[in-house]
Amino acid sequence: MSTRIAQRALCLDDFEEMSRRHLPRPIFGYIAGATERNASLADAARAYSELHFLPRVLRDVSPRTFRRTIFGRDWAAPFGIAPMGMAALVAYRGDLALAQAAREAEVPFILSGSSLIRMEEVIAANPDAWFQAYLPGDSTRVEALVDRVAAAGFGTLLLTVDTAVLPSRENNVRNGFSTPLRPSLRLFMDGAMHPKWSIGSFLRTWAQHGMPHFENSFAERGAPILARNVLRDFTARDHLNWEHLALIRRRWPGWLIVKGVMHPDDARRAEQEGADGIIVSNHGGRQLDSTSGPLRILPDIAAAAGQMAVMIDGGIRRGTDVLKALSLGAHFCFVGRPMLHAAAVAGQEGIAHAIRLMKGEMDRDMALLGVNALEELGPQYLIRTGGTGA
Ligand code: FNR
Repeated sequence: MSTRIAQRALCLDDFEEMSRRHLPRPIFGYIAGATERNASLADAARAYSELHFLPRVLRDVSPRTFRRTIFGRDWAAPFGIAPMGMAALVAYRGDLALAQAAREAEVPFILSGSSLIRMEEVIAANPDAWFQAYLPGDSTRVEALVDRVAAAGFGTLLLTVDTAVLPSRENNVRNGFSTPLRPSLRLFMDGAMHPKWSIGSFLRTWAQHGMPHFENSFAERGAPILARNVLRDFTARDHLNWEHLALIRRRWPGWLIVKGVMHPDDARRAEQEGADGIIVSNHGGRQLDSTSGPLRILPDIAAAAGQMAVMIDGGIRRGTDVLKALSLGAHFCFVGRPMLHAAAVAGQEGIAHAIRLMKGEMDRDMALLGVNALEELGPQYLIRTGGTGA
C-alpha cells in the first residue's frame, strides 16, 4: 500500500480526488464542503495565490532547518493537523490514525470536540495531542468538560469561538449529510456503491466498537452518530461571551488557545483574558460565508497579539503556503481537509505520507528561497500580485 499511496499522491491536493472516489457522497461532501457560496473557502486559498516570492540566491542553505518550538515543545515542522469532527466516521478509528501519524512525524495533532473516540484513548496514543472544545452552553458543563480534559492529561486546550450558531450548509443537505446521520435508502445505496468504506470503515467500526457516539462534547457521553431523530449535541451557544473564556482561564491550568479569531481587537481581548495563543481562522470556510481569507488579516492580528503565539489555518496545502504565512507573522500553521482525505484513503499511512510530502516541500522551498531558519522569514520575501508589496 505504501508505494501505491506514494505513487498516487504527489501533493496534498491529490488526496481529495482519491477520497472522492473512496467515500460515499454525503461523507465526502461533509469534508470537502463549506457554507452557502463557498466564498470563505475560496478566499482562504486565493489569499495565498496572490502572494509571490522574491528569492535570494548564492547563500549557503545547506544548514537549513524548519523545526519550531511552541508551547514549550520542539516540533519537527511548523505545521500540524487542525481539529476535525467525526474523523472516525471518515476513516476506521480516524482520530487515532491522525494522532499516531502526528506523533511519529513529531507534529501537533488537535483532537476535535466533535470526535467519536474517547479523548482518554486518544491521549494514550499521543500524549502530546491538544484538545479542541466547543463551549457547552452553561457554566457547569464548561467546568465539567475542562476538568475532564485536564484529568485526561491534555496540556493544551483550544476553544473554537466562531460557531455561535450552526451555519447553513446547503451542500450537506444536497448531499444527504446530517448529524446524526439518518438511515435512508439513499445512504444505504451510497454505502453499497462504496464497499471499501462501508466494510472497511463503517461496518468494521460498528462490529468492533459498537455504534459511534459523540464522545467528547461534554464531560459525559453524547448522542449516537446514526439516529432516526435528529437529536443533536449542539446546545445553544449564541449567548456565549468573553466571560466564559475568563471562566475557563481560571479553571484551566495548561496552555489556552482561542481558535477562530479574525479581528485585531478580538486578538487584543483574548490576550487580556489570558489566552496563550490564537488561531486566525475562518473555520475552513465552514461558518460565516464571505469571511475574509485568514492570511489577509494575519499581519494586523500578529501586530495586535502581544505575547500570544499566532497560528493560522485555512487553505494551506503547500510548503510555500506555510512559508508565506510565517513570513507574514504566523508562528505555526494547521492543515485541515487534506489530512482527513488522506486518512480516508489510506489511514495512518496516508496521513504519514501527507505530512512527509509537506515536509519535503518545505525543505526544498526554504533552500530555493534562500532561507536557513524560519526566524529569517519576513515580508521582505514577498510581493503581492500587481507588485504592491506584502
Ligand atoms: C473542521 N473544522 C473544525 N474546527 C474546529 O474547531 N472543530 C471541529 O470539530 C471542526 N470540524 C471540522 C470538520 C471538517 C470535516 C473540516 C474540514 C473542518 C475546521 C478546521 O479545524 C480548520 O479550521 C479548517 O479545516 C482549516 O481549513 P482547511 O485546511 O481545511 O482548508
